[in-house]
Amino acid sequence: MEPVIVHGCLFYNEDCITGARQHLQDNSVDLIITDPPYGIRGDTLHQHYNRDERCVIPGYVEIPDNEYADFSLRWIREAEQVLRPGGSLYIVSGYTNLYDILHALKQTSLVEVNHIIWKYRFGVFTRRKYISSHYHILLYEKPGSRRVFNTESRYGLSEKTGDGRSPNTSDREDVWLINREYKPRQQKNKNELPQALLIKMLQYSSNEGDLVCDFFLGGFSTAMAAIGLNRRVVGFEVSEQMFVAKISGIQQARPGSLLDTLRRPSVTRIKNQGQPWTGKDRAALASRYRELREQGLTKKAIIAILCKEFGRGRFAIEKALKKP
Ligand SMILES: C[S@@+](CC[C@H](N)C(=O)[O-])C[C@H]1O[C@@H](n2cnc3c(N)ncnc32)[C@H](O)[C@@H]1O
Repeated sequence: MEPVIVHGCLFYNEDCITGARQHLQDNSVDLIITDPPYGIRGDTLHQHYNRDERCVIPGYVEIPDNEYADFSLRWIREAEQVLRPGGSLYIVSGYTNLYDILHALKQTSLVEVNHIIWKYRFGVFTRRKYISSHYHILLYEKPGSRRVFNTESRYGLSEKTGDGRSPNTSDREDVWLINREYKPRQQKNKNELPQALLIKMLQYSSNEGDLVCDFFLGGFSTAMAAIGLNRRVVGFEVSEQMFVAKISGIQQARPGSLLDTLRRPSVTRIKNQGQPWTGKDRAALASRYRELREQGLTKKAIIAILCKEFGRGRFAIEKALKKP
C-alpha cells in the first residue's frame, strides 16, 4: 500500500507488523514512541471514563485477550529490527497486559533503561477499590551504539528553584505527573496521549531531523508532536476510519512549530567536560584537594572550588577523587 506523505513524513493505513517489515529498513529508526491497543476490550472503555462518547472516533482496533501475548511479541520483534543500534523505544501500557509486553521485551535484545510511571489526575472511578490513575511507560534501548539522552534539554543541571531544588532532577524522576488533555467537542481517538507527555519523550530521546516511528498512530498525537519539533516521522494505523479522520489534522501541522514554545534551559558549558583525565590532572586534583582540606574547608565547598578550577562537573570531580 502507498503511504500518505505529509511534510516528507510517511503514514501507512496498514497493520504495523507487516507494514514495518515491508516499508522500513532494518536499523533505520532513531526513536519509537508507541501506545499499543491495551487488550482490555476497548469497546467498554466508555463505561469507565467520564467523557462524551459522541466525540470518540469509531474504528479503534482492539486485540483479543488470548492473542495479546503473541501480538505483543510480533510487533516488538519488528520494532527491535527497525530500531538503529543506540535507538530508544518508549511503550505506553496500562497494567492489564503489562506482563505480556514485559515478557515480549525479555525475548528480544532490547535492554531496559527506565520503567516510568505516568500519573494523571483523571482517574478511572471505582467505589470499592483504589482508583487507578497511572500508566506505565517502558523505555528500552537497542544496544550497539550510544543512546541519545539530552540531559539538559529542558532544565540545566545548575538551575535551582526558589527553594534550592534542582528542576532538572525533578523532571528526570521516573514518576511523571502530566494531566490528560481536556478536549471537549473535539473528535479524538479513545486513548489520545497528551502532547506534553510526548514532547518530553521527544526532547530527551531525539534530536531535530531524527526519524521517529509510531507503530500505533491512533489519533496521530505522537506524529503531531514530532513534526512540531522538526523530527521526521513514519507511522502505521490499521483502522481506516481512524486514519481517514485524523490524517487531515496532520496535514495542518507545521514542521518546527513547537520549537519556539519550548522552555529554554540555562545550560552552563563546563570547559573540560568529556575530556579524558591525564595522570598530571589527577595528581594536581589530589594535591589541591589536600591543600583545601588542610585549610579546614568542608568537602562540599572544596568540590565547588575544584569544579571551577578544573573546569569539570561535580560528578567528574567526585569520581576522579575516588579513583586517583
Ligand atoms: C492506544 S491507541 C493509540 C493512541 C495514540 N497514541 C493517540 O495518542 O491517539 C492504539 C491504536 O492502534 C491501532 N491498532 C490496533 N492494531 C493495530 C495494528 N496491528 N497495526 C496498526 N495499528 C493498530 C488501533 O486502531 C488504535 O487506534
